[in-house]
Amino acid sequence: MVTKPVALWGFMGSGKTSVGKALAQKLGYEFVDTDELVAQRFGKPIPQIFAEEGEAAFRRMETQVLSELIQRQRIVLATGGGMPTVPENLAMLRLNALNFYLRVPVEVLYERLATAQDRPLLQGFSDRYFRIASLLAQRERFYTQAQFILSCGRKPPEQIAEQIFAWVRALDDGDDAVTVDLGARSYPVVIGDNLLERLERIFAAVPLSEPFAIIADESVAEPLGEKVQERLQRLGKAHLVTVPSGEGSKSVEQAIRLWQWLADLALPRNGTIVAVGGGVVGDLAGFVAATYMRGVAFVQIPTTLLAMVDSAIGGKTAIDLPQAKNLVGAFHQPRLVLCDLTTLATMPDRPFLAGLAEVVKYGVIADPALFTYLDEQAEWIVRRHPIALRVIIARSASVKASVVVADEREETGLRMVLNYGHTFGHALEAATGFSLLHGEAVAIGMTAEAYLAWRLGLCDREVLERQTEVLRKLELPTHLSQVPDAPPVALDTLMAAMGRDKKRRGTTLRFALPKRLGEVTITDAPVPETLLTEAWEFVFCQ
Ligand SMILES: NC(=O)c1ccc[n+]([C@@H]2O[C@H](COP(=O)([O-])OP(=O)(O)OC[C@H]3O[C@@H](n4cnc5c(N)ncnc54)[C@H](O)[C@@H]3O)[C@@H](O)[C@H]2O)c1
Repeated sequence: MVTKPVALWGFMGSGKTSVGKALAQKLGYEFVDTDELVAQRFGKPIPQIFAEEGEAAFRRMETQVLSELIQRQRIVLATGGGMPTVPENLAMLRLNALNFYLRVPVEVLYERLATAQDRPLLQGFSDRYFRIASLLAQRERFYTQAQFILSCGRKPPEQIAEQIFAWVRALDDGDDAVTVDLGARSYPVVIGDNLLERLERIFAAVPLSEPFAIIADESVAEPLGEKVQERLQRLGKAHLVTVPSGEGSKSVEQAIRLWQWLADLALPRNGTIVAVGGGVVGDLAGFVAATYMRGVAFVQIPTTLLAMVDSAIGGKTAIDLPQAKNLVGAFHQPRLVLCDLTTLATMPDRPFLAGLAEVVKYGVIADPALFTYLDEQAEWIVRRHPIALRVIIARSASVKASVVVADEREETGLRMVLNYGHTFGHALEAATGFSLLHGEAVAIGMTAEAYLAWRLGLCDREVLERQTEVLRKLELPTHLSQVPDAPPVALDTLMAAMGRDKKRRGTTLRFALPKRLGEVTITDAPVPETLLTEAWEFVFCQ
């Protein structure tokens, strides 16, 4: 149960006060409307504060009030509409509260605010609809950083309060969440310790309906698959099947076996498929969920670091054919992703560390604060300290979610930024007969591609040096000789492997390359072969 502040975010007129009061009553928590408290504390109504002292003074008052409230427990906060747009407030709320954005469409907001006289930010605008729409558009990028985004429409406050109440009951103070914001197909990625112990409450909060068909990797079926089954049986029927560990299970044969298992169970369209395991089981079970009865609800419970930060988020599902990996698949978003950090305890070091390569990638392509965190906390991350794991997984999920939201079906090319380190990485995997782990190949690939970016004049050499340092601290390879048992590989073989990649895409090789830490650009012009060779040599002879 969450005892830290529960904060409701949203535009004026989105119902924070009425929802907050109903929620506080259900929880038996205190309710505070921050606008009311500011007015009370500073002795005048908000329109008067705006008129006499201006918006900046009001924002300072808000921050002062928030810094006191945020330290309290068992309190529901209805925050002022502009509160999360101030960086200091956003950081305070994000770190210390469980936050819900009450999203209401602009039409409904207009209906509620068309004639309001007590909203200083709307006064004096002849076209109030336009004013609401533009202010909302400016604020949306702040609001969407709340852990949960609720589509409220015209739902009664009582119903919204009920939904939040279920989450507050299901989660603990140490849990975090990120919402993949895809409108009606939005879903939360929940991150925390011992989430499986609270599984039935979390499923009820989504909500997800029985019967449940649990598909688990055989190496984690006991105890994780069985624990999932035991908890879900409290909500109704829950069946468990296992699939053999390893990439070989992403096969047509396993898909057929699972379709038939579901048919024998007579799983109805409103049942739920639950994947428990790494990316292999997630991709396979996701594909089966996308196709069985033309699509049923699906939950990802990733148990490897790679699956938590990458494959479980984004809705790409697939099986392999002998001709190529991931050749048959579908986009099918999960309804929930549940990253229980305790499940990582049994992961051997090598694949765990390899999973960190994707985390470094997110830092370099989009999140300089994550990159700095990796640099400063590397020791704790390598030791799998639960707080460090929660931070890096939540931030990675947030980057992956934002890219997925921008290009859900890989149509605009924006998802291409995720390929940083992968053009060299894939060639290296192929040329070495997959004797490196994917993350190891990506770490070396990022080194080669950062070198390339520097040689192309896109970034300072410092980017390459800092990235190399962070990879080293995280015990990831930056050149081939650091990989245990890596076979020798010739430059020609690598260049040929890259050429095959190029042919498959029917275009010149395109790279996502860093401009600085936290920003990448996609190359359009062909990169000279001499530079590609130089980059390969760099990761062989460093
Ligand atoms: N869908 C996507 O967007 C996407 C993105 C990246 C990768 N992928 C796919 O993900 C797959 C790789 O994922 P992966 O690295 O998780 O591989 P995996 O699922 O094969 O898991 C790796 C190994 O770890 C074992 N394992 C799983 N959980 C464990 C735990 N908690 N403790 C100990 N062992 C555990 C598994 O049995 C397996 O042997 C590939 O098939 C790749 O194509 C998909």
